[in-house]
Amino acid sequence: MRLRNIKDKDILIENCTYLEKNPQNNKNKWSKIFGNNNEIHLEIGMGKGDFIYHMALKYPHINFIGLEKYTGVIGRAIKKYPQELPNLRIINSDALNLENIFAKEISTIYLNFSDPWPKKRQAKRRLTSEVFLAIYDNIFKASKKIIMKTDNLNLFASSLVSLSKYGYIFEDVNLDLANSDIDNILTEYETKFMAQGLKINYLIAIKK
Ligand SMILES: C[S@@+](CC[C@H](N)C(=O)[O-])C[C@H]1O[C@@H](n2cnc3c(N)ncnc32)[C@H](O)[C@@H]1O
Repeated sequence: MRLRNIKDKDILIENCTYLEKNPQNNKNKWSKIFGNNNEIHLEIGMGKGDFIYHMALKYPHINFIGLEKYTGVIGRAIKKYPQELPNLRIINSDALNLENIFAKEISTIYLNFSDPWPKKRQAKRRLTSEVFLAIYDNIFKASKKIIMKTDNLNLFASSLVSLSKYGYIFEDVNLDLANSDIDNILTEYETKFMAQGLKINYLIAIKK
């Protein structure tokens, strides 16, 4: 549902109990924020939150954080999922700021249907470009895991190359997630793309 105006969005954000308003103050303290030492998984570009919310419901022994750069989109996520979960927090920020928000605290990063930035001159903006992989290196704990889903074959191919160049190896690569036996929680975009008959590409990349 569309938010009527900017005021609605501001009120939702102001009153949201699970949106971290000053996330940089939590750097190196996220386990304390969650009140346990469970793994922390981060989704970058959570959109309206379908994936991260249902992951948090399904896996109560993992802490989840959703990051989204657009305030309007975060407002819509809060409207859709008003109920706080103990193992879920959300952050309104750009992935370029991740090193200000996290020390080496993250175990897994999810990149779901990230913007493809198809032009060559836009390649650095892709969330799997070297620019972002260098940032992720500084927020990952000792071992690094990126799980990616996309309908976009060009983005998928360029991600395989950049991840591989950056020292990641692939635990799984699948070109038709819906017809696999991989355990999967759908995202909003995934639901739309699957309804159009598009195939979903999936990978798990790890780096020790
Ligand atoms: C195509 S949408 C996909 C949303 C959701 N992951 C899904 O699959 O339904 C991409 C989302 O990533 C967000 N995004 C793109 N670049 C980002 C960045 N650098 N930092 C944080 N969020 C970003 C966009 O605002 C948008 O909400």
